Amino acid sequence: MSGNPYKDDRGNKDASITKQGGVGVLESRPGTGKSMSSASAFLIGDTMTGGYGTGPDILHDCTIAVDPGEIAVIVGPNGAGKSTAMKAVFGMLNVRQGSVRLDGEDITELTPQDRVAKGMGFVPQTSNIFTSMTVEENLEMGAFIRRDDFRGTMAQVYDLFPILKEKRNQPAGELSGGQRQQVAVGRALMTQPKVLMLDEPTAGVSPIVMDELFDRIIEVARTGIPILMVEQNARQALEIADKGYVLVQGRNAYTGTGKELLADPEVRKSFLGG
Ligand SMILES: Nc1ncnc2c1ncn2[C@@H]1O[C@H](COP(=O)(O)OP(=O)(O)OP(=O)(O)O)[C@@H](O)[C@H]1O
Ligand SMILES: [Mg+2]
Repeated sequence: MSGNPYKDDRGNKDASITKQGGVGVLESRPGTGKSMSSASAFLIGDTMTGGYGTGPDILHDCTIAVDPGEIAVIVGPNGAGKSTAMKAVFGMLNVRQGSVRLDGEDITELTPQDRVAKGMGFVPQTSNIFTSMTVEENLEMGAFIRRDDFRGTMAQVYDLFPILKEKRNQPAGELSGGQRQQVAVGRALMTQPKVLMLDEPTAGVSPIVMDELFDRIIEVARTGIPILMVEQNARQALEIADKGYVLVQGRNAYTGTGKELLADPEVRKSFLGG
């Protein structure tokens, strides 16, 4: 054991870094369109309905959730509301009906800042790094809510993403797409989150870099940090998903384990290219 929680392979069920929430139970088979996760999930956006400002509802009874030790993946066509669902869970959207709960606590009314303080880490789809700041300054920004010494966490992030240590004094804007995504994930890890939300962490990277990023994400999940992530690379993402959601037009269309969704003929035909 290296003593590094991002490195040690302690199995997917080790939730020592997180608070143990309830155990998610499969309540519906894929294709039913109902939520599969019980009300006791560690992080849950539960039957959320809402939209931007006073605009029309984008989400309709949409449920996404993740439990300790899990990677939950959200897939669906462009404009399906995947990012909107993530923003709703993070508090950037009016949730007109439904609720968001973290570790049993109703946080529907909290600001995003307060949710970070409660242990949520969020990497948005766009503008997720400060391009004119160095890699290290980006990581320091990530630690903005911490009052304690965060150098140990920074060392862990550098262990997880060694290239970032090499480039720590370079402006983040000079890095490749895959490296920028590492900065964004690293920044989110600096708060020592209890749950990590990633919106398309592999957007715009080559298949090889995508595989590498997925490996690092699995590594983070193994430390016990549950991961809720949106992915454009649906097939590859469902392969590593304990739980998958297919969203269509702001609604849950299919829900199941990654394996179940990959095996579902309807899901394959409509969303996975056959
Ligand atoms: N800031 C915004 N204000 C108003 N409407 C928005 C805003 N952002 C997104 N929308 C609308 O919400 C709907 C869902 O968009 P969203 O970005 O959540 O989809 P997505 O599934 O993440 O798509 P993609 O795969 O392209 O990332 C779209 O109709 C979009 O036009
Ligand atoms: Mg999106």
